[in-house]
Amino acid sequence: MSNRTFTMLKPDAVSNNYIGPILAKINEAGFRIVAMKYTRLSQEQAGNFYAVHKERPFYKDLVSYMSSGPIVAAILEKNNAVEDFRTLIGATDPSKAAPGTIRNLFAKSIEANAVHGSDSDENASIEGGFFFSQLERF
Ligand code: CMP
Repeated sequence: MSNRTFTMLKPDAVSNNYIGPILAKINEAGFRIVAMKYTRLSQEQAGNFYAVHKERPFYKDLVSYMSSGPIVAAILEKNNAVEDFRTLIGATDPSKAAPGTIRNLFAKSIEANAVHGSDSDENASIEGGFFFSQLERF
């Protein structure tokens, strides 16, 4: 069990003006923001970030989508962060996300599903390192 996870607020969350409401949910659930960046991924960066999905049929569309507009990347801290954050955001497909979860409240489709959350401690560390150096974490 680790106390940190990584999240991205995706282009749909940003363009729908959901940065504030989603960060409020994250804080209310007891997560502390350790690092945060408003930025935009190139196609190449999005492809590298999601390289684990390279063989999946949705990979190409996912890469175009994730580079289509600004995102917010953040490292979050809380006991049992990875698992608790995945509970907070709900299922990948918003139509299957439990009521009150971030994807249930703010997402419209499986691709434009508002937020990303790391699926393991190892990936949380890799994904956080993709966006932030040690010096940028507080
Ligand atoms: P995320 O948690 O960021 O991890 C991979 C992303 O691929 C996922 O959220 C979705 O946004 C996207 N995706 C698109 N289609 C699918 C699919 N059929 N199954 C799983 N993930 C998908």
